Amino acid sequence: MTELNLTPSRTGSRILGFGSYQPERRVTNDELAQEMDTNDEWIRSRVGVIERRLSEPGQTLVDLAVEAGKNAVTDSGLTPSEIDTVIVATCTMETNIPNAAAQTAHRIGIQAAAAFDLNAACAGFSYGLGTASDFVRVGSAKNVLVIGVDKFTNWVDYTDRSTAIIFGDGAGAAVVGPSDTPQIGPAAWGSAGDLAEMIYVKDRNSFIFQEGQSVFRWATTKIAPIALEAVKRAGVDIADIDVLVPHQANLRIIEAIGKGLRKHGARTDLKVATDIQYSGNTSAASIPMAIDHMRAAGEIKSGELALLVGFGAGLSYGAQVVVCP
Ligand code: UT7
Repeated sequence: MTELNLTPSRTGSRILGFGSYQPERRVTNDELAQEMDTNDEWIRSRVGVIERRLSEPGQTLVDLAVEAGKNAVTDSGLTPSEIDTVIVATCTMETNIPNAAAQTAHRIGIQAAAAFDLNAACAGFSYGLGTASDFVRVGSAKNVLVIGVDKFTNWVDYTDRSTAIIFGDGAGAAVVGPSDTPQIGPAAWGSAGDLAEMIYVKDRNSFIFQEGQSVFRWATTKIAPIALEAVKRAGVDIADIDVLVPHQANLRIIEAIGKGLRKHGARTDLKVATDIQYSGNTSAASIPMAIDHMRAAGEIKSGELALLVGFGAGLSYGAQVVVCP
């Protein structure tokens, strides 16, 4: 039988840099309360959001992705010409054709990149990062730009108080490259398609619907064990983890995941991302954006171990341990 060539594989992969971008327009809870029957106290106590950023009219999802991608490439120290693959994790494109990744690559100045979109909703960045890491390790790519971006203003009914108060627009990105020592752990990822009806958009003329309480119960019981599985697969101890970065869905869910991990030995000084407060739920953007903001604020140091865990529509979930650049 004919044997075909394989690309030479590499020992490991690492994150070379992070970047993010948020639209300028800040929308407070009080502003939303002028449009619908809600109030600042309810939103803060039940969801944890103080304000969110919403896109300006005419600002597209690709506009957000480009800015976050540029920032990550700059942070990585690479030039756009050194990136050969672009993955955009998103579920909220204005239209699906063409994809976001090819346009984003072109506008950043990344020539002829392999470029594709990936939809795992709010777990999208975890899937994009796992895919990028594996591409680099098997030699399918050298340096991959992974962007998590969502623009829920495309898909939210701003008269529906059960969803309008939650989401924000934004983008977060990371550059993944080769490493002599593995710095991105194996992904613990999976799905529960039997629960698909918990979060959906019925058709292209409809808005997002979610069974909030059901998703809340699922997230507060199922996600901590998935995060622990990622820790096990990375070959470290939960007490080694310095930073927990869960998808920023709801502050109460974030606290429940932190509590679940502490029961299994996570340190009391574990830093936990709470970016939802000033960003809202930005879906696939929320994990890289939270890390980028924490790094900028000096809350994460180079070499620290971060545990990332994404979850959302599908239902889909994914987690991994990474060494912070
Ligand atoms: O990112 C993708 C994954 N998604 C998630 O993880 C979302 C998970 N779910 C949640 O975060 C929460 O379930 C929500 C934030 C969506 C809702 O919070 P909740 O604490 O589960 O509220 P609820 O739906 O149980 O509603 C409680 C009460 C109801 O009133 P009654 O029936 O008790 O009188 C609602 O009508 O709060 C009412 N309510 C509101 N009141 C003021 C619902 N939305 C609002 C609102 N403002 N915006």
